[in-house]
Amino acid sequence: MALSPQFLDELKHRFTLSDVVGRQVKLVRRGREHSGLCPFHNEKSPSFTVNDQKGFYHCFGCGAHGSVLDFVMNTQGLEFIEAVEMLAGEAGMDVPKPSREQIERDKKRSTLAEVMESVAKWYMAQLKGQIGRAAYDYIKGRGLTDETLKRFQLGYAPASRTALKDAMIARDIGEDQLIETGMLIKPEGGGASYDRFRDRLMFPITDRQGRVIAFGGRALSKDAKAKYLNSPETTIFHKGATLYNWANARAASYDAGQVMVVEGYMDVIALAQAGIDYAVAPLGTALTEEQISHLWQMADEPILSFDGDNAGMRAAGRAVERSLPMLKAGKSLRFIIMPEGEDPDSLVQKEGRQAIEKLIDNASPLVNVLWNNLTGGVAADTPERRAGLEKKIFGALSEIEDENVKKLYQSEFRNRIWDLFRPVRKSGGGQRGQGGFQSGGFQRSGFQGSGFQGGRGKGGYRPREPLATGLLGQTSIGRGRGISPVTDRIEKVIILTLVYHPEIMIKHEEDVARLEFTYPGLDAIRNALLEKAALAERLDHEAVITHLEDRPEMVTLQKLMNERGLRDDWFAWDDAALSDALTGFEHIVSRFQHITAAHAEYVQAEADYAAEMTDENHARFVAAQEAYRALEEKEADKDGYRLESGRFSFN
Ligand code: UTP
Ligand code: MN
Repeated sequence: MALSPQFLDELKHRFTLSDVVGRQVKLVRRGREHSGLCPFHNEKSPSFTVNDQKGFYHCFGCGAHGSVLDFVMNTQGLEFIEAVEMLAGEAGMDVPKPSREQIERDKKRSTLAEVMESVAKWYMAQLKGQIGRAAYDYIKGRGLTDETLKRFQLGYAPASRTALKDAMIARDIGEDQLIETGMLIKPEGGGASYDRFRDRLMFPITDRQGRVIAFGGRALSKDAKAKYLNSPETTIFHKGATLYNWANARAASYDAGQVMVVEGYMDVIALAQAGIDYAVAPLGTALTEEQISHLWQMADEPILSFDGDNAGMRAAGRAVERSLPMLKAGKSLRFIIMPEGEDPDSLVQKEGRQAIEKLIDNASPLVNVLWNNLTGGVAADTPERRAGLEKKIFGALSEIEDENVKKLYQSEFRNRIWDLFRPVRKSGGGQRGQGGFQSGGFQRSGFQGSGFQGGRGKGGYRPREPLATGLLGQTSIGRGRGISPVTDRIEKVIILTLVYHPEIMIKHEEDVARLEFTYPGLDAIRNALLEKAALAERLDHEAVITHLEDRPEMVTLQKLMNERGLRDDWFAWDDAALSDALTGFEHIVSRFQHITAAHAEYVQAEADYAAEMTDENHARFVAAQEAYRALEEKEADKDGYRLESGRFSFN
């Protein structure tokens, strides 16, 4: 039902947003805005803001954003129209009446729904009767209780051509309605209509409100053409717009904060019998965009589970592709691959509910699955192939429509690529790069990109250690260091040199002021040093330490001064002569400027390439990346600059 923008505006204006939000979130007024702890993600300090004038809320932590309608929908698990009706009721407004055609359509729908209800009841009765004996034994043999059969309204369609037709016509249900609902097949070339489902175990498919709108029928005889036969598309049934067990799972998922998608009806039912009520299934097709949006109404990170065979892997890949354009702040997917030879039904029957919950707890975030899909089995052992891989990766990411999410994915994947190809040096410890890289948490090997052919011998590109599994933001994004371990180290040495030989600032004050530190905490120390230098007092190490002593910067500085790994740059320390310190300083600053300039160009070239995927931009991106890496590698060859230097960091 389409509502006019005027009506919706009016409805929103009847409410003061902070009042509605305030029923669920403790808000504190701050000037024109209210703030509180965000109800859409876990946080300790408030980043959730409500602006009554503008009529929207915004969370600076997770990006949740919307109007009073969105708030009600998202906190109470309501669909749009339900939220409208709820708020309108509260405001004493009438929701505009639907048009006459709309009324006709609704009437027809409810008549057809009644037809389906009668059909479902009749099928259930057959399953309990003599005629359904074999079907009943079969399904009991698969471990379902009578209670479960009743709850899912399972039934049986007898093996006759007109059993259903005769029974329904005897109940005054029209043949045309049975044809329209797909229960009877009317042959094209004329002839009598007949039952679509014969000798099948019947699974009623309900809509969001729990009304029967279609059936899935499982063959019982071995010679049936298809194991499962579903109702065709009808006035009331659109496969891509509904989910099996939607109505029940909606309530359950709201309580559990979780929804799980499985492949089969039997999986849904077996899970429900074991106490996992929030499972749904698509209806014999790949997950559609519409279904994904429904899932996001139910939980922020629906869990999609797939069988561990090739078909399951492909289905997972399709689901990833389909969801990319739709990703929003806070909305993602997680993935489970079933152990070999199992589906959720068989697993839960064998090992119980805990086995499933364990899989759910270890589900792989979308970012890992996407990464594995893009890199798995891809050879990237030459610059051209690597460039091809990068082109593929950034091409895929350009599908993400939400700008912020896209930016974060690009930077996450840039880090992963970088981690993957970073040269590995003898480190004396750790087993690196054995047996292909793995970055995801998939239990099954098929999903792990196993195909990186990294063996170019010593000094070649080899995979680094597996990344820690993590949601977006928990791997490299969140590590809170500077550009790279090499620049971290350079920056620290620059600071140390200035601390031990502050006289350098007499000559290089301007240069020191212009340095752009990326390692946390160094900027503040530099500023404190400049302050001291500006005082035109005695300027030496002692004076600097006295100046810094009681300031917070001293904590960071103290750690730096204890960092043994930095000793290789001897000119920085107090036993070096000032003239050596000066020369060392000038050299290292110039190296730093080269490397940061190359890095800036690399980032820019990549952004331009992501924005516009021309060959020219690609060439520039590849060149910039190579240039930057070459510099990094050159630095890493110097004493004390092995990549392991990252380990000496102080946080
Ligand atoms: P499965 O064959 O995995 O179903 O198909 P299942 O639930 O494990 O079946 P059981 O355990 O043998 O009874 C998964 C889903 O794919 C659709 C159905 O929706 C089924 O639930 N499907 C499968 C079809 O639509 N047609 C088919 O022929 C097979
Ligand atoms: Mn099965």
